[in-house]
Amino acid sequence: MPLFLRTRARHLRERMDDPACDPARLHATYARFGAVNRLFAGWGVLYCRLLRPRLSPGGRYRLLDIGFGGGDIPHQLVRWAERDGVTLEVTAIDPDPRALHYARTLPPSPRVRFERAHSSELVARGERFDVVISNHLLHHLSDAELRGLCADSVALGEVALHNDIARADVAYLGFAALTAPFFRGSYITPDGLTSVRRAFTPEELEALVPAPWRVLRPYPYRLLLSYGL
Ligand SMILES: C[S@@+](CC[C@H](N)C(=O)[O-])C[C@H]1O[C@@H](n2cnc3c(N)ncnc32)[C@H](O)[C@@H]1O
Repeated sequence: MPLFLRTRARHLRERMDDPACDPARLHATYARFGAVNRLFAGWGVLYCRLLRPRLSPGGRYRLLDIGFGGGDIPHQLVRWAERDGVTLEVTAIDPDPRALHYARTLPPSPRVRFERAHSSELVARGERFDVVISNHLLHHLSDAELRGLCADSVALGEVALHNDIARADVAYLGFAALTAPFFRGSYITPDGLTSVRRAFTPEELEALVPAPWRVLRPYPYRLLLSYGL
C-alpha cells in the first residue's frame, strides 16, 4: 500500500489532455511513448505469455487497441504476430483527434487501422474482436467510465487485457529519476507522474470491477485487468 500516494489523485489532469497544450510538446510526447512503453509496459512478455498461446500459426485474428495514443503498440503487436506466422489485424481507436493526426504520420501498415472513435461506437456498430487491449488507459477514467470500458470490452471481445501502472511511491520516484533527464521537450515526465498519482492500486481496481474480471500483477508497480484469460 502506498504511503505518500495513499489517495488516488483523480482530480489531477494530464497536460496532454488539455486541448490547448503546446502542439510541439504533444507531438514529442506521442513520439516518445514507444520508448516509455518498451521501458515500462512489458508488452513483450504479455504477448508471449498471454496472447501468443491464443494465436495459431497461419491463423488470422482481429485485435482492438483502445486509446492508442502514439500508435506504437498496434504496430509492435502486428510485427510480433508476423514473426510467429500469424496475421493480426488491428483496429486502434482513440477519441482524441490529435492522436489520429499523429498516428497518420507513422509509416502505414496494411494490418493497422487507426480511427477516431470511442469503444461504445464500435459496440453500436456490432464489431467483434478476438482480443481487446489497452495500455495506460485505465488511470484516465472515472469509475463510471471504467465500468463502461469493462462492459464495452465484453461486448466487443472474446478476451480483454487492460495493462496499466499500479500506484506506488517507488513507481513515482523511479519514473521521475529514469525519465526526467531523457524526455525533455515532451510531457512524458510531468504526465507520467500525474498518471502514477491517478493510477489505481490493484485492491482499488478489484473493488470496482465486476466478476469475472480479474486484476493480475504481472510485475512490481504494474497491474493487468483481464477478462477471459
Ligand atoms: C497515456 S495515453 C496512452 C497511449 C497508448 N495506449 C500508450 O500506451 O502509449 C492515453 C490515451 O487514452 C486516450 N483516452 C483517454 N480517455 C479515453 C477513453 N475514455 N476511451 C479511449 N481512449 C481514451 C487518450 O486520448 C490518450 O491518447
